[in-house]
Amino acid sequence: MTRRSVILGCGSYLPATIVTNDDLAKRVDTSDEWIRRRTGIRSRHIAAHDETTSDLALAAAHDALNNAGINADTLDMIVVATTTPDNTFPATAVKIQAALGLSHGFAFDVQAVCSGFVYALAVADNFIRVGQAKRALVIGAETFSRLLDWNDRTTCVLFGDGAGAIILEASTGIGDSSDRGILSTHLHSDGHHYNSLCTNGGPGSTGTVGHVRMEGQEVFRHAVKHLSEVVDEALATNNLTPDQINWLVPHQANQRIIDGTAKKLNMPPERVVTTIADHANTSAASIPLALATAAKDGRLKQGQIVLLDAMGGGFTWGAAVVRW
Ligand code: ACO
Repeated sequence: MTRRSVILGCGSYLPATIVTNDDLAKRVDTSDEWIRRRTGIRSRHIAAHDETTSDLALAAAHDALNNAGINADTLDMIVVATTTPDNTFPATAVKIQAALGLSHGFAFDVQAVCSGFVYALAVADNFIRVGQAKRALVIGAETFSRLLDWNDRTTCVLFGDGAGAIILEASTGIGDSSDRGILSTHLHSDGHHYNSLCTNGGPGSTGTVGHVRMEGQEVFRHAVKHLSEVVDEALATNNLTPDQINWLVPHQANQRIIDGTAKKLNMPPERVVTTIADHANTSAASIPLALATAAKDGRLKQGQIVLLDAMGGGFTWGAAVVRW
């Protein structure tokens, strides 16, 4: 018997304010046509001034608990993937723990920028598999808008705010890809690209939060290469062929990157979950937001194989194979 982490439910939250490409064209020298053609983005949600990452995360957590039909007090682990914590410390996860009325278990944040959710999922899955947790709440939540230089058209058009959450529960399987739950996770990083996608500040350097700086084409090139490699690795580990994947749920950074991965897998667009048009890049929140969207509209069905992949600053990248 093998210990597995099964997804019991998922949830999401998007701030009410929607900012369209035309709205942005009033602030910087850009156009709806340029943004759509280069990225696939039409609009993004932006958090209100008094709305923090933990507010978004908590709303997604309640939605996921509701969807799973469980009480918060049955959780023993909370992991929040975020680049935009409410405070430099403590972790946003402990704020969620308290807001859910819990004093037991443990809670911490994971920082891997846009790969954050895949990293957090891998961490929670490993805690569950070694028997140190039974029920985990895994959240990806960002107010990435707070890191943007709203005068820099090369970055401010790309990102949005939001949160997604899933509940994992320990279960047993037989140890092959017929099991339900997380079948494998695959994490990678290469810190030589630290400066290709970063903020130009931080608590330990400038004492400020900093703004996003990105070498767009460099990120694009590496994303296509690394995502293709990690997806191959994930399939090979589980002895799966691309046609056995029911759904690709990728990090939503750029429609062209998503199309590149799907093409490599020979997957038609109907089997790829995309939310980038309406959410833009919500960093660690994008995969759980996409999962919640596809689960709620009935696309994800029990027993189906779902492939997640992500790439972010660091560079970090990763994938996970899940039987829903
Ligand atoms: N509106 C209009 N023109 C623009 C804009 C804009 N918003 N932004 C850039 N341009 C201009 C540039 O100034 C440049 O003009 P020039 O030729 O006169 O110098 C021209 O458009 C082309 O710029 P490129 O950077 O070459 O455009 P590209 O086709 O590479 O698209 C993009 C840029 C969309 C950023 C692309 O490189 C990309 O998607 N890269 C990956 C980004 C990504 O995935 N980031 C998230 C990673 S996840 C994380 O960890 C945060």
